[in-house]
Amino acid sequence: KINTFINSLMSKMTVDEKIGQLNLPAVGFDVTGPVLSEGVDEKIEKGLVGGVFNTFTPQAVEKLQKLVMTKSRLKIPLLFGYDVIHGHKTIFPIPLGLSTSWDLDLIEKSARIAAREASADGLNWTFSPMVDIARDPRWGRIAEGSGEDPYLGSLIGVAMVKGYQTSSLSNKDAILACIKHFALYGAAEAGRDYNTTDMSLIKMYNEYLPPYKAAVDAGAASVMASFNDINGTPATANRWLLTDLLRSNWGFKGFVVSDYTGINELVPHGLGDLKTVSAKALAAGTDMDMVGEGFLTTLKQSLQDKKITMQMIDLACRRMLEAKYKLGLFADPYKYVNEERAKTEILSQQNRFDAKNIAEASMVLLKNDNQVLPLQKKAKIALIGPLADDKRNMIGNWSAAGDWKKAIGVMEGLKNAAPDLDITYAKGANLVDDAAILKQLNANGADIAADEKSADKLISEAVSAANKSDIAVVVLGESALMGGEATSRTNLDLLPNQKALLKAVNATGKPVVLVLMNSRPLTLEWEDANVTAILETWFGGTEAGNAIADILVGNYNPAGKLTSTFPRSVGQIPIYYNHKNTGRPYDGISNEKYKSRYIDSSNDPLYPFGYGLSYTSFQYSAPQLNKTAVKAGQPIQVSVDVQNTGKYDGQEVVQLYIQDIYGSITRPVKELKGFQKIFLKKGESKHVTFTIDEQMLKFFNADLKFAAEPGDFNLFIGSNSRDVKAASFSFGR
Ligand code: IFM
Repeated sequence: KINTFINSLMSKMTVDEKIGQLNLPAVGFDVTGPVLSEGVDEKIEKGLVGGVFNTFTPQAVEKLQKLVMTKSRLKIPLLFGYDVIHGHKTIFPIPLGLSTSWDLDLIEKSARIAAREASADGLNWTFSPMVDIARDPRWGRIAEGSGEDPYLGSLIGVAMVKGYQTSSLSNKDAILACIKHFALYGAAEAGRDYNTTDMSLIKMYNEYLPPYKAAVDAGAASVMASFNDINGTPATANRWLLTDLLRSNWGFKGFVVSDYTGINELVPHGLGDLKTVSAKALAAGTDMDMVGEGFLTTLKQSLQDKKITMQMIDLACRRMLEAKYKLGLFADPYKYVNEERAKTEILSQQNRFDAKNIAEASMVLLKNDNQVLPLQKKAKIALIGPLADDKRNMIGNWSAAGDWKKAIGVMEGLKNAAPDLDITYAKGANLVDDAAILKQLNANGADIAADEKSADKLISEAVSAANKSDIAVVVLGESALMGGEATSRTNLDLLPNQKALLKAVNATGKPVVLVLMNSRPLTLEWEDANVTAILETWFGGTEAGNAIADILVGNYNPAGKLTSTFPRSVGQIPIYYNHKNTGRPYDGISNEKYKSRYIDSSNDPLYPFGYGLSYTSFQYSAPQLNKTAVKAGQPIQVSVDVQNTGKYDGQEVVQLYIQDIYGSITRPVKELKGFQKIFLKKGESKHVTFTIDEQMLKFFNADLKFAAEPGDFNLFIGSNSRDVKAASFSFGR
């Protein structure tokens, strides 16, 4: 049916109209790239636009869709795209924070709610999930992904695709997902955004490609080509990537959109002039041109010059029409225009309630000496820091249509959670006082004004607040706009003025609870060594303040676990748990010279992948195997008993790692292969069982064959990638 419909429609289309379907201008409320589209209404009337992005609300969408339906010749409805990254108007934690929940149901729910709100607001396409593996916190966009692990990243990508697209794109609240940024954008050299990626195929296939592939298998309807060069050919013009791998090998059936002016940027990449690169991008498998209009302005000429074929244009056009058909837009171009839905389904009480639960689940307790947390509900606390009574930053970067004025800050949250707390507030420091960063942020709309008071005065007010209190809660971190696109950093310490504040408050001798908000792992060696407790809250979204407060006063027992390693220093980057052993591994203890180590730092991270504390404690038994040999078609089981040995009920993420000891190629020291998030009442024990089968042992070998190799394996089970108990088994023997 779909083919008959599209064949018949395409038989009526001119070449210009077909190329028009491949054109995606930006129009509306948001600016997410360096140039703006012009003359969009006229182009819509002429049938020269396939979709628009950065426009939403039923009214705005209806207006443009009406232009198509009343003025254009063939009345082909538009797609409406937007960066609905971690919520539409009800904002959830930044994606890195969502991932630290290790809770696939909650993550899927966040995407479901986001899609429900976005579709009620006129949108039918989100530029999410971002599934780029990132091991470099200098890269600001680490905030938008799920961290460093391909296994967890794959599961999260799938959960998000399901949440956005539902069981059928024809559902009224389903929107198209877009897997981005294909591919390897997270491996940009030196953590500098848009930079080059050069990577072996073995590393690519085993460590970076799995999440994209998993999201394709989950049925994602679109893919965004990444900005970066991959081994000499930028993704947008990379036929091996976009056609051989994505379509021929993985069977992707949807459409590929470039990133913002990604086709034009092939010119400075060095592939040719605009006409040449537009032809190359189409021939490689890019179907839609975001903003740059290289397709619109040059493809017809390239066709006449025989640089591309009519089949190429037809194929891309067909893919666009198929997506629209599947959404049901031909049946009802106004499917997403429903003011009643917009009024009732957006930012509802229920959505906020869910956002609070999800935010709580995302937060990671990094340190808690002397069980200083949770706070007594009547404690006398000094609440200090530029993020302590702030709303503006709570929803983080890439917060789409989110309105920070609707967010709850920490002060407000504490008053809600524990009205009897005795709070003395002091701002203590400006959020950003680094001139270079400030200049860049303000130029991009951050609007951060320095406080009139001097830095010394701000600090002395904070110190006196701490002196009057029993405990200091200091809320520090990055400005939200220091994370996300184009925010690479070379220094990951707290900004100097914030650190000076923390040191001064710490010097009062009062216990200090450091509450962090940031978009990336920071370097926190001093903080870890000196303050009493540290709670990583990322940017928690609309309900951030309530979630943080519930954790601080013990209404919720934190259970988040890191999904990206926290380095001790920038010099350790890239640092990740699933590294190779090297030929001269360092044991971390001896003082031998010729080992793979630093002379000025430990090799170990500050906080490893999978790490996160609870208010309670858990004890793990040694892993017990039912058999010690996995065989084809004959899995084995490994179990541990986990006991809650502390004073609170709590959740624990039980993690299973496997190491392939000898292989035909070198293998990581361990790889996450399973996890279970369990709830244990205090004193309770649970028997947790994992099945290990041949599939889990497979990897891409030097011939890129995906197979398990016979031999011996170690397995590790524990509460993070470092603190584990080991056992061993064999395969194929
Ligand atoms: O979706 C984004 C992408 O992640 C970065 N460049 C702009 C796009 C559209 O806003």
